[in-house]
Amino acid sequence: MELPRIIVNFKAYREATGERAIEIAKAAEDVWKETGVSIGVAPQAVDLRRVAEAVEIPVFAQHVDPYEPGARTGSVTPYAARDAGAYGTLLNHSERRLRIDQIEMALSLARRYGLKVVVCANDPIVGRAVSELGPDAVAVEPPELIGTGISVSKAKPEVVLRSVEVIEGIVYVGAGVSTGEDVRRSLELGAYGVLLASAVAKSEDPKSKLLELAEAVLTFE
Ligand code: G3P
Repeated sequence: MELPRIIVNFKAYREATGERAIEIAKAAEDVWKETGVSIGVAPQAVDLRRVAEAVEIPVFAQHVDPYEPGARTGSVTPYAARDAGAYGTLLNHSERRLRIDQIEMALSLARRYGLKVVVCANDPIVGRAVSELGPDAVAVEPPELIGTGISVSKAKPEVVLRSVEVIEGIVYVGAGVSTGEDVRRSLELGAYGVLLASAVAKSEDPKSKLLELAEAVLTFE
């Protein structure tokens, strides 16, 4: 399964918890079936297994800890995420930062258990540094735009351009991505895909929103 063009992070939003997590994931699956545009979802750890069992699209953990299974109370291990049905994991999200040695260890364990890894970075330089660890993709998100509804591709196109220039391999961009136009612009600037959250997770009609985003990707395929 190829890395999806759109990844929706459910964060810990109430609107994307439990039953709603399933509903949004199913909406993403419907849109994938209707458009052919691959969409991944990243539910909370407590919803991971249910979501992975309910849909056939790539399901990501939002984070995994750099530990093997064992005496690690409160941890989400790469082994457990894979066992729950995850296809991949995000790592080092702005809201769940890790030290570089922890990223390296989590990445290597995730690989051991067959998870794809998208490492997040707050700017192109950090993105370049983490790309040296060999993840499947890097996602660059300027933290100050996260949750604002003001897209990185509109407010800081230079961040997208620079990321694509300095990072080898697949680059996602995110922060404030909310419309088809934001997606189109991100891809035009050279990104492989987008990582977004609130525009879908908090939407009253996630399916229409996802359709709008997927249709923007279609103009590139
Ligand atoms: O992981 C995606 C995220 O940090 C961006 O959030 O709400 O600006 O799309 P949002």
